Amino acid sequence: MQKFKNRDFLKIADFQPDELDYLLRLAARLKQARREGREQRFLENKNIALIFEKTSTRTRCAFETAIHDQGAHCTYLSEGSQIGRKESMADTARVLARMFDGIEYRGFGQHIVEQLAAFSDVPVWNGLTNEAHPTQVLADFLTMREHAGKPLNEVTFAYIGDARYNMGNSLMMGAAKMGMKFRSVAPRALQTSGGVYEQCLAVARGTGAEIVRTDNVAEGLKGCDFVYTDVWVSMGEPEEVWKERIDQLLPYQVNARSMEFTGNPGCKFMHCLPSYHNRETAVGESIYQKFGLDGLEVTEEVFESPNSIVFDEAENRMHTIKAVMVATLADIPPIFFDD
Ligand code: CP
Ligand code: NVA
Repeated sequence: MQKFKNRDFLKIADFQPDELDYLLRLAARLKQARREGREQRFLENKNIALIFEKTSTRTRCAFETAIHDQGAHCTYLSEGSQIGRKESMADTARVLARMFDGIEYRGFGQHIVEQLAAFSDVPVWNGLTNEAHPTQVLADFLTMREHAGKPLNEVTFAYIGDARYNMGNSLMMGAAKMGMKFRSVAPRALQTSGGVYEQCLAVARGTGAEIVRTDNVAEGLKGCDFVYTDVWVSMGEPEEVWKERIDQLLPYQVNARSMEFTGNPGCKFMHCLPSYHNRETAVGESIYQKFGLDGLEVTEEVFESPNSIVFDEAENRMHTIKAVMVATLADIPPIFFDD
């Protein structure tokens, strides 16, 4: 499949269901090959730029380890670069495209990564914006495939919490593309926007997906195979919103009771991470001091339960990001994909 060569990976909506399926299968192949010590290097001597305007553990490490595994090199750009303060994204894009074979961007508005892509003639990959986190969705769906024991279009899952941000948007679109049964469970003020919802419904008409928005936790979680949440205050949002967010979202916390609403003892818990589930972080401790809560979007009990598959998801960031880079940069022998 050569239709990926030189394409950007900016948001899930840009890809057809068969293309997303291909990336998931490629990731599974690369994962297996790495485990068996027979990974082929498709990216030897490529140069890759990693731009991080927000902090990261998983995404940065996933890109860097995947790049090393594949024989490529990377340069990490953050506060020390000229980007934004002294040089526009349009100019940065044209400079980096002269030196690098691919560019990852994590930052603020989706329009910024779209502009970077428009002005560079090498593939640009979205490592998270306010509106989208598409590489995370690939990792999540690979993880679901591994745990569900059935195809994605037979999976029912709920995203619960702050549904109007990057994870809520991208998971809803991913579910629509893959024909899944998806519930976005959130208070009305934090529900996925009408625009994104309408787009997802239009996709769902073609794939058979069921996309539901609800503020009712019991209804939303009933019958789920997977329950997914994310932090209540995202990177780039001001600290002052914590109080209001806690008031709005405490009824949407993932805890033992909400997991029981699924009616499925095998229901798995998912989270993109990082997560506030105890007091072992500076933010977690400060929230405890102010509000007396020692777990926020998920309790320690659920996070540490055998049903929690959050670290499988974290590992899969690497295999899926590797698949995106290989698919968009490499000339791959077609035999690699024969099932
Ligand atoms: N899930 C995720 O994007 O993690 P990082 O913020 O650590 O990259
Ligand atoms: N919504 C979170 C996702 C982190 C991976 C954030 O943007 O901070």
